[in-house]
Amino acid sequence: MDTVAQRPKKGEEVEAVVETIDRRGRSVGEVDGHPIILTRGIPGDRVRARVTKRRRAELQGVLLEVLERGPLHVDARCAHAQSCGGCRFQDLAYEAQLELLHGHIQEALANARVPFSEIEPVIGCPTPWNYRNKMELSFGAIRWVEAEEPEGVARDFALGFHAPGRFDRVLDVRECHLLFEGGMEFVTTARELAKELELSAWNQHTHEGCLRHLVLRRGVHTGETLAYVVTSEGGEVVEEFLERFCALHPELTTLVHGVNPGVADVATSSERRVVKGPGWITERLRGVEFRISPESFFQTNTLQAERLFGVILEEAAAQEADLVHDLYSGAGSISLLLAGAVERVVGFELSAEAVADAEANASRNGISNATFVAGDLAETIASVSERPDVLVSDPPRSGMHEKVVERVIELAPQRIVHVSCNAHTAARDLARLVHHGYELVRARPLDLFPHTPHVECVFTLTRRTS
Ligand SMILES: C[S@@+](CC[C@H](N)C(=O)[O-])C[C@H]1O[C@@H](n2cnc3c(N)ncnc32)[C@H](O)[C@@H]1O
Repeated sequence: MDTVAQRPKKGEEVEAVVETIDRRGRSVGEVDGHPIILTRGIPGDRVRARVTKRRRAELQGVLLEVLERGPLHVDARCAHAQSCGGCRFQDLAYEAQLELLHGHIQEALANARVPFSEIEPVIGCPTPWNYRNKMELSFGAIRWVEAEEPEGVARDFALGFHAPGRFDRVLDVRECHLLFEGGMEFVTTARELAKELELSAWNQHTHEGCLRHLVLRRGVHTGETLAYVVTSEGGEVVEEFLERFCALHPELTTLVHGVNPGVADVATSSERRVVKGPGWITERLRGVEFRISPESFFQTNTLQAERLFGVILEEAAAQEADLVHDLYSGAGSISLLLAGAVERVVGFELSAEAVADAEANASRNGISNATFVAGDLAETIASVSERPDVLVSDPPRSGMHEKVVERVIELAPQRIVHVSCNAHTAARDLARLVHHGYELVRARPLDLFPHTPHVECVFTLTRRTS
């Protein structure tokens, strides 16, 4: 009879085999019959790890060394791969990433007990690198020092991404293979100018420091580029920074400066000023032109978003006389793409800036049958009285608010197209809809975020007749 070896102790070094990666991007392995969760590791790898926690259900550990690579393990592209975590899957073969994501959706639906027959294969991204049209970088006064850096390296300034699990430490990013081509040049300029002008970076502990965020956005089909610089205060040196930034990058079509004196670490501002250009960029998708402001939501992977919208239009199967409700409408992309095929579309969106963009986008495209309601859907949906024929819902990662689901069930649209980048919250929302008279008829996932554990999926539900 096989015996299971004793559970390793905290601090012990063990040899583990990685079996899979879970939906949170954690590697799940096994040590002598005991499950272990690791922060890294590719399925099939044999690794050396140190146990850091002994939970009842599993051990947790840090990976120390890959002893033998599994067949799906490929070379990571980025020098920051071990410290950043932004591309958690970059050393996993791309086809295997798609299979893993497919499994995550399947697991989420099964866990939430949503009956389904089949999930279509994940539509891969034909260009899985440099696909992000937007990147939000943080300035930080406490730099995350990477493992191989020399002793005594300066630690008081960084421009990049927060180190995983560290709200206060920022990794000084010199390369990023997700950012649009040429984007890193803006990052380098901002870093060099800040140092030259002796502008301090924001400190998350003391809430002091001037530079806070740099947001970059690119219109992939228009070539337009926006930079949004957020500081804690204004002043002459900030002005000089902005002026010189513009001068060094004539290709920048617009530059916006925002001031955010608050403590919350978000790239937003209470005061905003356009330094150059119109204050937004434009993008063209499937024949519709969109204006995108610094803080408006817009799909971050332009080419894959076009395919996503194609899938949504197919699944909406809207008819000429239909009324469509587009919940969580952002800058209006889905609403405006559907408007040409139906009688009327109403979009609902929290951000007033995104609604202003959506309205401007409707008029710049000569679309008069799309209107938008600004405000929190948990409140605005209460006053909706007309039953839509088709309802599209594309909520943030946290999913739909309970009150929104309740009202959707009362409104009883014949068809619901639920779009989600979080299979777990989607499964929760779908379970309620299925429980109240809907049937999940199709699930069509797309990889909008290659090399990350996130996956987009279009779920189509129809109302059962009896
Ligand atoms: C995943 S995005 C979808 C945007 C849009 N459908 C698109 O494809 O461009 C989610 C949107 O929901 C909005 N949102 C978040 N919470 C909301 C709420 N409570 N009420 C209404 N909209 C909300 C966000 O501002 C964001 O624009």
